[in-house]
Amino acid sequence: MERSVVLVKPDGLQRGVVGEVIHRFERKGLRLSGIKMISLDDALLDEWYAHHKDKSFFPSLKEYMKTAPVVAMLWEGVDAVSTVRKLIGVTKAREAEAGTVRGDFAMSQQYNLIHASENKEIAQKEEKLMFLPSEVFSWEKTDYKHIYLKEELF
Ligand code: CMP
Repeated sequence: MERSVVLVKPDGLQRGVVGEVIHRFERKGLRLSGIKMISLDDALLDEWYAHHKDKSFFPSLKEYMKTAPVVAMLWEGVDAVSTVRKLIGVTKAREAEAGTVRGDFAMSQQYNLIHASENKEIAQKEEKLMFLPSEVFSWEKTDYKHIYLKEELF
């Protein structure tokens, strides 16, 4: 099964949406496989946002990501990466669909509350950057039998 890395970013902690995010993902039927609070430093941010390093907003993005800790989570499910992206909404929060996390709670392109892995390859890279193997939990979610048809599980 796929896992997506989600960060509730510093503005998400300031705005008090950590519980809301967890609540939404739990209700969707995703399985929480890891969670921790962490302060991001320059070394980790340089790797995390390597694909943005030439963008004009990169210095501002790094400063913002160091203003408070983040809550890092691993959410697992069938097609979890694309499912989580749909739940969070597009980057520019004021254009995000109502019903998404950004669409319901944010307005900014930078202060958009939450990060989620863009694709499967990036999800695997981000999991390794953010979590030790001992911080990733595999547990039997007994209500999967009510969430998925048996044939959908692999
Ligand atoms: P995310 O898409 O999760 O990861 C890259 C982050 O950079 C993005 O969220 C925003 O927080 C930030 N970002 C993206 N585009 C801009 C922009 N044009 N100006 C400022 N910040 C941005």
